Amino acid sequence: MSDNYIGQPVSRVDGRLKVTGQARYAAEFDDAGTAHGAVVRSTIGKGRIATIDTAAATKAPGVLAVLTHRNAPKLAYRRHKGVVDPDFGERLHVLQDDRVNHQGQPIALIVADTLEHAVHAATLVNVRYTEEPALVDIASAKPRAPHAEKTDQGKQRPGETRRGEPERAFANAPVKIDETYVIPRENHNPLEMHATIAAWNGNKLTLWDKTQWVHNTAEEIAAVFGIPANDVRVISPFVGGAFGSGLRTWPHVTLAALGARVCRQPVKIMLSRREMYYGTGYRPHTVQRVSIGASPEGRLLAISHEGWQETSTYEQYSESLLNATRFLHGCSNVRTRHRHAAMNVHTPTYMRAPGEASGVFALECAMDELAVALQLDPVELRLRNEPEQDEDKKKPFSSRSTRECYRAAAERFGWSRRDPHPRAMRDGRLLIGWGMATATYPMNFAPASAKARLMPDGTAEVTSASSDMGPGTWTSMTQVAADSLGLPIEKVRFVLGDTTLPKAPVHGGSMTMASVGSAVQEACRKAREQALKRSKSDNLAQALAGLDGPVEATATVKPVDESGRFSMHAFGAVFVEVALDPDLGETRVRRIVGAYGAGRIVNPKTARSQCIGGMIGGIGMALMEHSVVDARNGRVTNANFAEYAVPVHADAPATMDVIFVDEHDPHVNPLGVKGVGEIAMVGVAPAIANAVFHATGKRIRTLPITPDKLL
Ligand code: MOS
Repeated sequence: MSDNYIGQPVSRVDGRLKVTGQARYAAEFDDAGTAHGAVVRSTIGKGRIATIDTAAATKAPGVLAVLTHRNAPKLAYRRHKGVVDPDFGERLHVLQDDRVNHQGQPIALIVADTLEHAVHAATLVNVRYTEEPALVDIASAKPRAPHAEKTDQGKQRPGETRRGEPERAFANAPVKIDETYVIPRENHNPLEMHATIAAWNGNKLTLWDKTQWVHNTAEEIAAVFGIPANDVRVISPFVGGAFGSGLRTWPHVTLAALGARVCRQPVKIMLSRREMYYGTGYRPHTVQRVSIGASPEGRLLAISHEGWQETSTYEQYSESLLNATRFLHGCSNVRTRHRHAAMNVHTPTYMRAPGEASGVFALECAMDELAVALQLDPVELRLRNEPEQDEDKKKPFSSRSTRECYRAAAERFGWSRRDPHPRAMRDGRLLIGWGMATATYPMNFAPASAKARLMPDGTAEVTSASSDMGPGTWTSMTQVAADSLGLPIEKVRFVLGDTTLPKAPVHGGSMTMASVGSAVQEACRKAREQALKRSKSDNLAQALAGLDGPVEATATVKPVDESGRFSMHAFGAVFVEVALDPDLGETRVRRIVGAYGAGRIVNPKTARSQCIGGMIGGIGMALMEHSVVDARNGRVTNANFAEYAVPVHADAPATMDVIFVDEHDPHVNPLGVKGVGEIAMVGVAPAIANAVFHATGKRIRTLPITPDKLL
């Protein structure tokens, strides 16, 4: 009997399909009968469509339909909000009126026999606007308090929190810092661009879509068209990266379904790289002010963290910018204040470690500034402020391995050899900087279902409508299933990415392993038990061989009772070495060491790979990524891969060490996992910024840290 697949570095079960090109992504499900859609987008930031002339486009070769707000069918747009949709406001209704809310808003859809015909016809649509001044620059926006309604999100992200007397404690603190940190808008840039193929069969709709949540796409499109959710099937077996861009259902999915309905044939829409900057969300531009007061010995006396983020005029997307500040370090006097700037931009969305990546950047840079002011080692500063419990929720942590993470990462890194003085470490003419930061991300767990089907031939098929945008869910779920069933892993097939399968939560928020994994484990346990009971054997293979048909079991798991008793988070520590060219201002990351207390690691190979991806994402955030928004009209001037820089292989250091400290947490979920997808990104950018300070003596508080800021 094989067991103990959990914890093994199993290679990706879908690896061969991927490297041989047999894994099919959304845009690859088309055939000869599929028409192609091209989206015409607004070229102003705010106003109305005065006239829209589609005569030339309609007559262009191959064109099957030209839809605008003048002739598009009116859609139901029933109320629907998935947990990934903003609680406040209403989603964009496409082609329903003449209003332009943001630059790049869809204003017409061309459907043609070929992509080339559609794209050409799109250039022939003539639009005149009644333009209004667009507010797209956060510096000219007025901060607005978040909606006061009591909702889950409102409780999670209240506009203001306080404990103790932060103002007085700060005023009296002997040592203090008070600084502002700016993170520009950043866009998800998965290699696979968003695509949808829509096909109607009577009143039933099939969508092949790039999504991180098939059931949400089905429910949203059903609500938009006013049809039952059961009439929409969404198929999405592979996702070529997403980082959160596939969490919501964006307007092009509606447009594909609309085009297919009007033209009575399947329609495919694939966003161009440029359209990815207008057609999906993005990490919002944030401005954060952090002030910290401390005793000369480095005890934190007061923390104030104010965060200000962009959102659209029609929806309030709210990030967990300030959550970590309330519990990451021990301090009796803490104040947080969150504000939004509602602007003529499209709605931002979750991007890897949404909120934490940005908020922890500000907090951990500020902690480094405080360490400098105190002339105290930054690791020592953090150790002196380790809290006994979550001081915000006033609950114990289910587990918290920060000390182990600092120790393990510092040792691997060689931190004790650091000369604390800026500009003190050199390699030839290069300035060397060593910096560190703490990382954290919540343990999320949402209801999930899975089904296990055991066959007489000794094989098993285990299913759940989850997604795999790259972390290795296909593989890790196969491991959990084989482990729970006690079958050799080759006998187990896991299937995901289809609304015909049992419901799974959104493939985001680092919750898939905890949620879907627990459901898979439970379904397999039940199926095994049933098979053994039916045959009165204790050997599963023999039991199955003796059965006349398959054995099936379904399980649904929910967050356990205990989630109310504990504060549950993953924690980590990230150490970075940079080398800086003092003449060119160019920063290269030489080494990253990250240590994480993330509960049980189901697959150290794919988990390490995920962490390396997060580290590289952090390099992009720190040194490169910046969606440059034209303050006159909201146009993204670098909406392409040539000018929106992301790290390539040459930017990734040879040394990226990932350490998972031993952590057994019986409280989080049945599998004891916390997830690593998001925490892998948190802490990297501040560690790099802190290393840049150590190398140069220059504190750069506005990302990205480009050469112009260092010269
Ligand atoms: Mo992640 S931003 O929850 O895909």
